[in-house]
Amino acid sequence: MLSAPAIALAGVGKVFATEAGGSVTALSGVDLTVATGEFVALIGPSGCGKSTILRLVAGLDRPSEGTVSVHGGDPEALCRAHKLGFAFQDAALLPWLDVSGNIAMSFRLAGLATDAQRVAALIDLVGLAGFERARPDELSGGMRQRVAIARALALEPELLLLDEPFGALDAVTRRQMNLELQRIWSAARTTTLLVTHAVDEALFLADRVAVMSPRPGRIAEEVTVPFGRPRAPALLREAAFHALEDRLTEALLPEAG
Ligand SMILES: Nc1ncnc2c1ncn2[C@@H]1O[C@H](COP(=O)(O)OP(=O)(O)O)[C@@H](O)[C@H]1O
Ligand SMILES: [Mg+2]
Repeated sequence: MLSAPAIALAGVGKVFATEAGGSVTALSGVDLTVATGEFVALIGPSGCGKSTILRLVAGLDRPSEGTVSVHGGDPEALCRAHKLGFAFQDAALLPWLDVSGNIAMSFRLAGLATDAQRVAALIDLVGLAGFERARPDELSGGMRQRVAIARALALEPELLLLDEPFGALDAVTRRQMNLELQRIWSAARTTTLLVTHAVDEALFLADRVAVMSPRPGRIAEEVTVPFGRPRAPALLREAAFHALEDRLTEALLPEAG
């Protein structure tokens, strides 16, 4: 028997009411599937509905038309079962808690006893051993994002949703975080949907890249990333990488008149 894909969007449309009494069609006819264990990157121009797709997959909002299913069921069920990990551009850590405390918050929010061994293992996994007692204001931006990713992974989610998690970082830190995320994903193989506006980040990390059109957003193109794993930084200098990066960057530009 074929098992249901981890994520399936079919004919998804989303219309928002505006304050002025009008409406905005954010998404129209979006079809996207993500297999279990797959890493898919979603790229597209600002305002094309990338975050809206993540919110629908997380069960935080409902489509106006079409269906969104996660493991063949209602997205809300996964969220309620605390099997969903979510990290945003802003790490949004609690400033009065240290690194361990912020990661342990996942357990507390789910009403579970904190698994101290799991917290320690996650701190190791994201390369923050020695910083257990540090508060967010003592950490760099990249370190804060690692805490946010560890927190998202704390309950061993079946699905990891990342919304421009490195968007606020400088280019060098972003590169390091891309390597870290690849390492973390390779160890855990959690199904991941990453929203990014950086084409190189999408190509470096993902198995498949879905390119969205401007609003109303739909999937304009899907590209299977041909590079083997693990991927080293040297890949970023290869001609084949640049060729694909250029082609996808072009696909993101508004069509010439
Ligand atoms: N809650 C909302 N109410 C009204 N409009 C919204 C709401 N959320 C998003 N939008 C609009 O939907 C479009 C897509 O938004 P979003 O998904 O945030 O895009 P992206 O993440 O690709 O930049 C934008 O035009 C945005 O203004
Ligand atoms: Mg967004």
